[in-house]
Amino acid sequence: MAFSFFKKNQPSEKNNNDNNSIPEVLPKHVAFIMDGNGRWAKKRGMPRKYGHREGAKAFHDITRYCRSIGIKNASFYVFSTENWKRPKEEIDAIMNLLWEYLNDCDEYLEQEVRMIFIGDKSRLPEKIRNRMIELEEDSKKYDKMNLILAINYGGRDEIVYAARQLAEQTAKGELNPESITEDMIGQHLYTREIPDVDLMIRPSGELRLSNFLIWQCAYAEYYFTDILWPDFSRNELDKALIDFAGRGRRFGGV
Ligand code: IPE
Ligand code: IPE
Ligand code: MG
Repeated sequence: MAFSFFKKNQPSEKNNNDNNSIPEVLPKHVAFIMDGNGRWAKKRGMPRKYGHREGAKAFHDITRYCRSIGIKNASFYVFSTENWKRPKEEIDAIMNLLWEYLNDCDEYLEQEVRMIFIGDKSRLPEKIRNRMIELEEDSKKYDKMNLILAINYGGRDEIVYAARQLAEQTAKGELNPESITEDMIGQHLYTREIPDVDLMIRPSGELRLSNFLIWQCAYAEYYFTDILWPDFSRNELDKALIDFAGRGRRFGGV
C-alpha cells in the first residue's frame, strides 16, 4: 500500500500539486538496478527465465507508479555489457522478453512518456535495435517523464565512447585538451539530456553498482534492500523516497 502523501496526489504530478504534500525533495532522477530475478525463480524451483518474466511485471508497475507520482526521470538497468557472459538460453529469453515489451509500449506513449535507450545498440538484434529507435523517435515530443532503459549498457563503455569522441575532435584540431570540462564529458554520454542520478535503488541484497551510471552517480544517494526485484513493490519505492527525503545532501559543502 502506498503512503498517504502519494495516494492523495495520484494521479496528478508533483508540479501540479497544490497542497505541497509531496516533499520538495522528491528526486529528479531515480535509477533502478533490477536485480534478483534469477534467485527469485530459484527459490520457487523455476527456471531463471521465469524470474525475468516476473521481473518485467514489476518493472511495468514501478514505471507506471513513477509516472503517476511525478518522478521526471526513471532509469532501469535491463541488460549490462557484462550480461553477455550468461548462457545463450538465458540471453535469448531476455531478448525475447525485451522484444515483447517493445511491442507493448502504447500505454507509455499515451501517458506522454519519452523513451530513451542508453547503451550500445550496435550489438543488439536488428529488429530490437530498429524498434528502439522507432520508439525514441515516436516519443521524442513527450515531456511528462523520461523513461531511460539501459540495454547493452556499461558505465565504463559509455565513458570510453565519450573519450573517443573528444579525442577525435582533438586530433582534428577542433578541441584543445585543456578546454575539456566535466560538462563536456557529460554532453558526450548517453544521458546527455538527463540530470545526474539523485537516488540509486538496488534490490537483491547486493551492495554494488555493477557498472551502472558510474559517472552520473557521483553524488547519488543509495538505497539497498534485500527484496528481490520481482517482489519490489510501490510500497518499497515509497520507503526509498521517504528515506531519500530525510538525507542531508551537501555536495561537498557544509
Ligand atoms: C537481474 O536479475 C536481471 C538481469 C541481469 C538481466 P539476475 O538475473 O541477475 O538475478 P540474480 O542476481 O541471478 O538473482
Ligand atoms: C546488474 O545485475 C545488471 C542488471 C540488473 C541488468 P547483475 O546480476 O548482472 O550484476 P552482478 O553480476 O551481480 O554484479
Ligand atoms: Mg544478478
